[in-house]
Order: sequence, then structure tokens, then C-alpha cells
Amino acid sequence: MEFNDDITNEKGGTDEVVDSSFRPQRLVHYHGQNDLKKNVNILIKATQKRKEPLDHILFYGPPGLGKTTLARVIANELNVNVRLTSGPAVERAGDLASILTNLEDGDVLFIDEIHRLPKVVEETLYPAMEEFALDIIVGRGPSARTLRLDLPRFTVVGATTRIGLIGAPMRDRFGAIFRLEYYDDDDLRMIINQSARILNVEITSEAMLEIARRSRGTPRVANRLLRRVRDYAQVKDKDTVEVDDVKKTCKLLGVDEIGLSSLDYHYLQTLATRFSGGPVGVETISAAISEDKQSIEDVIEPFLLQKGLIKKTPRGRAITEKGENIVSSQKENRLF
Ligand SMILES: Nc1ncnc2c1ncn2[C@@H]1O[C@H](COP(=O)(O)OP(=O)(O)OP(=O)(O)O)[C@@H](O)[C@H]1O
Ligand SMILES: [Mg+2]
Repeated sequence: MEFNDDITNEKGGTDEVVDSSFRPQRLVHYHGQNDLKKNVNILIKATQKRKEPLDHILFYGPPGLGKTTLARVIANELNVNVRLTSGPAVERAGDLASILTNLEDGDVLFIDEIHRLPKVVEETLYPAMEEFALDIIVGRGPSARTLRLDLPRFTVVGATTRIGLIGAPMRDRFGAIFRLEYYDDDDLRMIINQSARILNVEITSEAMLEIARRSRGTPRVANRLLRRVRDYAQVKDKDTVEVDDVKKTCKLLGVDEIGLSSLDYHYLQTLATRFSGGPVGVETISAAISEDKQSIEDVIEPFLLQKGLIKKTPRGRAITEKGENIVSSQKENRLF
């Protein structure tokens, strides 16, 4: 039994295993993101009618909102294979060539963390995406010549948490670019309901809503919280999970009513007291709270921004009045 797994660490080592057991296979089981789903649905339907490969698609947004899941769902809907890789995994142009030549017509190549593709690989990918061909240089010096290799007509589905790091040439190769939004409580409740059925957990509707409220608008966090709450109820010999179980589990995990963790509080408190509310650069905050810059920018800040607790200014991050209030109420309640 472990109650200490960090609920805000959305990129944990076992996540991939756990995520996959919860992953919906079809678009109808992919809840929320309604505008995006409508668009994706049109793309799929049009592709099927034209009997052409799907246009390349890029998804971006904070971790755990369902980018990988959506890529798999799309491949399922199209009834094609999906090959999964990631930016840092494709080290050389040769690696990319071997992946591409092994695809079949219509297949989806999912590239996670596409902003981390090495430059040389990126440059090989461009013509492949546009012309479904690879130019390979054979030989050296004056006798070197280029060989053109035809490829199957494949679709790249790219995903990134950092749209700002994707250069214009790369962005231009995608026929559609979509941003994933944080989920509202109702959508999260549906996702929790679906996961509870997979886990065979009896849970009241109110308890599901309570988990939803504390999940930072993020399905991955919701699923993880559900598993922890299930542990708690099991240890207490309860057949049905109730609101009180959710509250007690969250207290043990250090997650408050709106999903803020001790790390979020630490961030807010440091900004409010040590830096007098800011503005202050993210590097400085990162050093002050000993948390790496990337997870601050990918996980902590997007949620605090969305909740209106901090704001970004040209001179750095600053706390808002709402953020100040949270910090002072936390001092009174001694939550953390
Ligand atoms: N719309 C959804 N409906 C149901 N389950 C979802 C939905 N979106 C995400 N999930 C679940 O949330 C978990 C995380 O989703 P996923 O791995 O696709 O996120 P991601 O955006 O790829 O994250 P990362 O940026 O860390 O790669 C999975 O278990 C997935 O099943
Ligand atoms: Mg992913």
C-alpha cells in the first residue's frame, strides 16, 4: 500500500502501463474535448470517403490530457496500424528511414514529444511528410548520388506539450493543429465512471464528482486518484467508495479541494513571500523550490494560470489576488 505517490507527477515511470489499461479505443468512449472531436471526426470521415491517407495532425497541450490516447483512437477508427515513437527515440535519420519503410499504406506514425526530434531527423521527415519519399545519399565525395526511396502514404500524428518549441517549417507540414483543453468536472466524472467499471469499483456519483474536482482537469490525474481512493476503501473494507473516502485519501496525499498539491502551494508561497508576489523569472523560482524548470512550465504553471492564481508578465511570473488569498488561507488552515 503506498499513499505517497506524487499525484502531480504526471510523467511517472509506471504511467504508461496504467494509462494503457484505461485507454478508450473508440471516439465515442473518448469523453470531453468536444470541439476537437468534431473536427477530428470530420477529418476521419472525409479521409474515408476519399480513400486517401489522413492529413498529418499535431496535438498540443499539458501532459495527461489524452494526446496519445487520441492518436490511438484515430488509428482504430481508420482501421489502420499505429506505430508509436518519440522525438528523443529517433536519434538519426537512419532510424527514421527504417521506421518509415516499415509502415503500410494509411498507417499512423505517432511521434510523441515531437519538439525533441533532432534537427537532422526533422529535415529528413519534411520531404517524407510532403512527398512520401526519402532522399538517401549513397556513397561519398564526387561519386555520391541521391537515391529516392518511395514510401507508403502514411500519416504523422505529432504530440507536444511545448508548441512554442516547434518551428514554422515543422508546423507548416501539419494539415491540422489542435490544442487539448483541461476537462470540466462533468467530463472527468464520465471518464472516472468508465475507469471505475474497468477496475470493478463501486463508487457513488458524488464521490466521482469529488475526484473530478480534485483532478486538475486532467484524466491521468483522475485515474490515478481513483486508484488511490480504491486502495483506501479496500483497506477500510468498504464495498462502495463514498465522498468521505475521497476526502480522506486526498488529505493523506496532500491534495486540496481544487486539486492543488503541496508542490503547487510551495510554488505559490515562494512567489508570494520570497519574491514579494513577483514578477520573477521561472529559472529563479525553479532554483528556489528545487523543481526542474520543465515540469514547472509543463505541469504546475498551466494549471495555476488556468485557475487565475498566477499570471505571466513580460518580466516573469506574478501572483494574482486570488493566488494571495490561497496562500493566506493555507497559512490559517495549516493544510500543508
Ligand atoms: N478523453 C478521454 N477519455 C477517456 N480517457 C482519457 C481521455 N483522455 C485521456 N484519458 C486517459 O488519461 C490517461 C492519460 O492520457 P494520455 O496518455 O493520452 O495523455 P497525453 O496527453 O498523451 O499525456 P503526455 O503529454 O504525458 O504524453 C490515459 O489513461 C487515458 O486513457
Ligand atoms: Mg502521451
